[in-house]
Amino acid sequence: MKIIGHRGAAGSAPENTLVSFEKGLEYGVDGFEFDVQLSRDGEIVICHDERVDRTSDGVGWVKDFSLKELKQLNFGVAFEKYAPIPTLYELLAMLKGRSLTLNVEIKTGLIPYPGIVDKVVKLLDKFGVTDQSIISSFEHKTIVEVIKNHPQISTGLLYDCGPINPWIYAQNLGAVNLHPHFAFVNPELVSESHSRGIGINTWTVNEPWQMEHVLESGVDMIITNYPERFVKNR
Ligand code: G3P
Ligand code: CA
Repeated sequence: MKIIGHRGAAGSAPENTLVSFEKGLEYGVDGFEFDVQLSRDGEIVICHDERVDRTSDGVGWVKDFSLKELKQLNFGVAFEKYAPIPTLYELLAMLKGRSLTLNVEIKTGLIPYPGIVDKVVKLLDKFGVTDQSIISSFEHKTIVEVIKNHPQISTGLLYDCGPINPWIYAQNLGAVNLHPHFAFVNPELVSESHSRGIGINTWTVNEPWQMEHVLESGVDMIITNYPERFVKNR
């Protein structure tokens, strides 16, 4: 089972900043999950929310800022640190040469970000990390786009309210992983999915009781804000 740092190591450092990814490396993660959005000038930036308000000292939509303007904000405020927003390019450059799983979550729910899939895949290709990457999204249309246009890349269907028989749903769409909230993990989900070659990668497993729950079912990957708590469970 792989231990994947959520937004870097979001329990210990400002989420989705390079400081957070450095922390995760220190803890010995098997990979990272992170969220991407597009700036006004089309740069892929790493940020969970469509707006900058919660995680920075700015106000507004990510899509309305140029990269230069986003770089003037501080995304380290929650930890009283200075931490600029990273681009996907900067993160991939920092992680170059490491065989980590890279789970790129594309946030296309509220803002459609036309072209974001092609841009992300192009950059993953440029860094030669396509085969170690998984693109996930709650917006399953985006996953269908990845499957259709970039079949070489692994995909994950995120969900936090359960489709009936999610393994059939994943199989019908052609996705190779399901990414359920841990509350939707159970032995039937894992065994039915595994028997069809579908992986189960679950989130956000932060507490020991949550880990016990998903361990019993035999998931493939857990995504956690606290990788340091669980690396011993591998
Ligand atoms: O990808 C797992 C998890 O990050 C999905 O939820 O809201 O934290 O992006 P959220
Ligand atoms: Ca996410």
